[in-house]
Amino acid sequence: MKIWAGAVIVGFATQASAQSGDAAKGQRVFNQQCRACHTLEKGGAQTTGPNLHGVFGRKAGTAEGFAFSEAMVKSGIVWDDKTMADYNRDPKGKVPGTKMVFNGVKQQGQLDDLVVYLKQATQ
Ligand code: HEC
Repeated sequence: MKIWAGAVIVGFATQASAQSGDAAKGQRVFNQQCRACHTLEKGGAQTTGPNLHGVFGRKAGTAEGFAFSEAMVKSGIVWDDKTMADYNRDPKGKVPGTKMVFNGVKQQGQLDDLVVYLKQATQ
């Protein structure tokens, strides 16, 4: 019983360090700063920006049915926690020539929250 309890605590600690963001706060960031241009659910509309369903683990610029910039297609990015945060911190710095007209999320805490939320909401 003691061993079992210890294992649970270790499990929680690992999860907390891997995901420092808060998904509920991340949802607010998304609603305020991304939602005007992006949908997240499976089969969601391509609007100004591409639908982001399944984006983690995918190569940039390969979502079907959206006309990406050449810069995005040739960026060679695969979306993970780090590339997602880097791109949304400074879209034009990370992908010069991207047609995502967005200044970037400058607060690290907001970025962490956003990435945690996106990971859940795009699955
Ligand atoms: C003004 C509209 C607009 C806003 C606001 C915007 N985006 Fe985008 N986004 C785009 C467009 C357009 C593209 C396509 C970029 C290209 O092809 O260069 C894009 C591309 C992306 C991609 C790459 C998708 C792929 O499949 O490769 C991600 C990820 C992304 N946006 C996330 C976000 C997040 C997160 C936010 C909010 C912090 C955000 N965007 C805000 C318009 C927007």
